[in-house]
Amino acid sequence: MGEVLERPAATGTVLPILDIQHVDKRFAFGAETITALSDATLRIGKGEFICLIGPSGCGKSTLLRMIAGFETVSSGALLMWGKPVSGPGPDRGMVFQDYGLFPWLTVSQNIAFGPVARGRPKAEAAAIARRFVEMVGLTRFAEAYPHQLSGGMKQRVAIARVLANDAEVVLMDEPFGALDAMTRERLQEDLLEIWARAKLSIIFVTHAIEEAIILADRVVVMSPGPGRIIADERIALPRPRDPTGVEFNALRRHLSGLLGSHH
Ligand SMILES: Nc1ncnc2c1ncn2[C@@H]1O[C@H](COP(=O)(O)OP(=O)(O)OP(=O)(O)O)[C@@H](O)[C@H]1O
Ligand SMILES: [Mg+2]
Repeated sequence: MGEVLERPAATGTVLPILDIQHVDKRFAFGAETITALSDATLRIGKGEFICLIGPSGCGKSTLLRMIAGFETVSSGALLMWGKPVSGPGPDRGMVFQDYGLFPWLTVSQNIAFGPVARGRPKAEAAAIARRFVEMVGLTRFAEAYPHQLSGGMKQRVAIARVLANDAEVVLMDEPFGALDAMTRERLQEDLLEIWARAKLSIIFVTHAIEEAIILADRVVVMSPGPGRIIADERIALPRPRDPTGVEFNALRRHLSGLLGSHH
């Protein structure tokens, strides 16, 4: 799985890692049907950092959960490397807001859990854990338990755990929502560094326009009722990005205009 990189399609063009084509999602709600997502079309390249923004209830988590394979699509197609997503898989990892670490396992054991569960020999799983502990800068804390870590460190363990499964796509649903501004800034930097090093495709849901502009290659904007994709803005600013810069501010105004007009 890890060795699958850009594979040329038959036409000679590069296949997107994720290809979401006209996807609808409907939920039965008592006697009614709720359309959570309507005609979502989105192509994501290997290594792209996508931020998804939109008002509460517009279907951001639903889209993420369908990519993760926790929910099926009602109509349309959702393909990874050209194949329909039919359920959860180690190639797509979700980082949960509460990080979802096992409290009774050490950092190393948490990271080795996936490889062990998938039948890798113990020594090999331990070597994988060492590699990713180092990648996320937690070598000193390899034998620590989750309760001994800060929020930011837990976040890094959660990402390492996803990477140890050879995930190529990392899904993050408002992971920094509950954090103070300083911790949030540090984690944004950490995440960008891990993303660049591991060449991941990241889909990151946030309510914060500024966070989206700091992180993303592309900001995808959704509108409510039913959720639709109304804009897909490429952020061409070099990183690290300066939130006080003129171009940054122009983007901020543009995106809040898009969101505001759909509240
Ligand atoms: N399992 C479900 N059954 C019924 N309706 C659902 C279910 N999951 C989500 N919905 C509905 O789908 C819509 C989109 O929900 P979703 O959680 O994707 O929104 P969101 O954009 O993530 O919102 P928030 O920003 O508040 O997290 C909502 O109207 C919600 O009530
Ligand atoms: Mg949500």
